[in-house]
Amino acid sequence: MALYTETVMDHFMNPRNVGSIENADGIGEVGNAKCGDIMKIYLKIEDNIIKDIKFETFGCGSAIASSSMATEMIKGKTIEEALKVTNQQVVEALGGLPVHKLHCSVLAEEAVKSAIKDYYDKNNIPYDKSILPDNIGCEGCHMV
Ligand code: FES
Repeated sequence: MALYTETVMDHFMNPRNVGSIENADGIGEVGNAKCGDIMKIYLKIEDNIIKDIKFETFGCGSAIASSSMATEMIKGKTIEEALKVTNQQVVEALGGLPVHKLHCSVLAEEAVKSAIKDYYDKNNIPYDKSILPDNIGCEGCHMV
């Protein structure tokens, strides 16, 4: 059996939503302690809706595919809906990832959360610190 599904290969070879957003409303950057890879997410938010989302990553193919899929799943959603998208859902949508690559999908989830937290912080919007802790990223990651 091939190591990666066709969907993973498609999102790796033709990643959606790559790039940055000028004057983004929220920016999140997280690193993966295990491999040293870095992910950055940019959000454009209007009326609580994620109108646009872009990502940049210095990461492996699985991280690129996960970010591409995660951005597709989150675009057009409310912030609350976006916060509910988990790395497991992203992995399912990709048709699976090898076990030793599951941690790569966490990077996308954490980067999205970090960008939403940045948006909340910039706009003085109160939020639940148990969902968006200060140490989003490696230290807070349960799968690294
Ligand atoms: Fe670093 Fe995949 S090996 S994110």
